Amino acid sequence: MDLVKRANRASASTIAQRIHLSTPDFLHPSSLDDQARWRVQIKCAHELSNQVKKQCFEMFESNMKQIYLRSMDGYNPQEKVRELFAQESRFLLLSPAVVDQAPETIDGFLMWRFDFEECPSVEAGETEVAYCYEIQLKSSSRGKGLGKVLMATLERIGASWGMKKVMLTVQLENERALSFYRSLNFLPDEISPSQTDPEEEGGEPAAADYEILSKPLPQHPSGSAS
Ligand SMILES: CC(C)(COP(=O)(O)OP(=O)(O)OC[C@H]1O[C@@H](n2cnc3c(N)ncnc32)[C@H](O)[C@@H]1OP(=O)(O)O)[C@@H](O)C(=O)NCCC(=O)NCCS
Repeated sequence: MDLVKRANRASASTIAQRIHLSTPDFLHPSSLDDQARWRVQIKCAHELSNQVKKQCFEMFESNMKQIYLRSMDGYNPQEKVRELFAQESRFLLLSPAVVDQAPETIDGFLMWRFDFEECPSVEAGETEVAYCYEIQLKSSSRGKGLGKVLMATLERIGASWGMKKVMLTVQLENERALSFYRSLNFLPDEISPSQTDPEEEGGEPAAADYEILSKPLPQHPSGSAS
């Protein structure tokens, strides 16, 4: 079975075990500036309650709607909902680990998928990736190192299933996000519009308002993640 198919069959518990966590619901060690303790939950899309889905979508809209409306592709909320909560979507949900927190209230989330992505530099022409579709934090939870925690968790998960890189798409207008990814050592991917040769693409300069970034993942010595 290929690595992507195998990863996609894994439950949230199995995903957690692969990164040496005994449960998919864990407290992040309080190494963060604000001394607060944070809870991270790994979930498959089908495990999300309607309440959590609603918060994810509202957070996405509040953070991103204006950027999407100004983008070349525009904004299609129905398509976004379908993409976010599709069967193959996987989530890291972030919430403060405090007793008086309302149940199922989240402060942020990361949504990714295990997938194949075009990769002209390898013989097969495609490679296994953990594709980060969304990382969204409430404004009050930004700048505390939490985005870094979520991305680091995704990198560990991706590597543990033999994915070759983490990939994501970011709008060029979103300068703060670009700085964030740069600080985590993401670079333009070979298939990003900024890296493709206009002549090979039909002679027109690649006009795009987004960049595709990626970061290689450490590989298991055996070459497989069984
Ligand atoms: C982008 C986002 C996920 C970053 O998460 P975060 O928790 O605020 O970022 P962190 O605190 O982990 O920051 C990590 C590093 O990123 C960089 N960074 C983060 N926010 C930054 C900002 N506003 N401007 C410049 N650099 C920034 C810094 O180098 C920072 O390291 P430092 O704190 O040691 O200087 C978060 O700000 C967010 O949800 N933004 C709105 C939604 C969004 O744009 N998502 C990305 C869509 S592609």
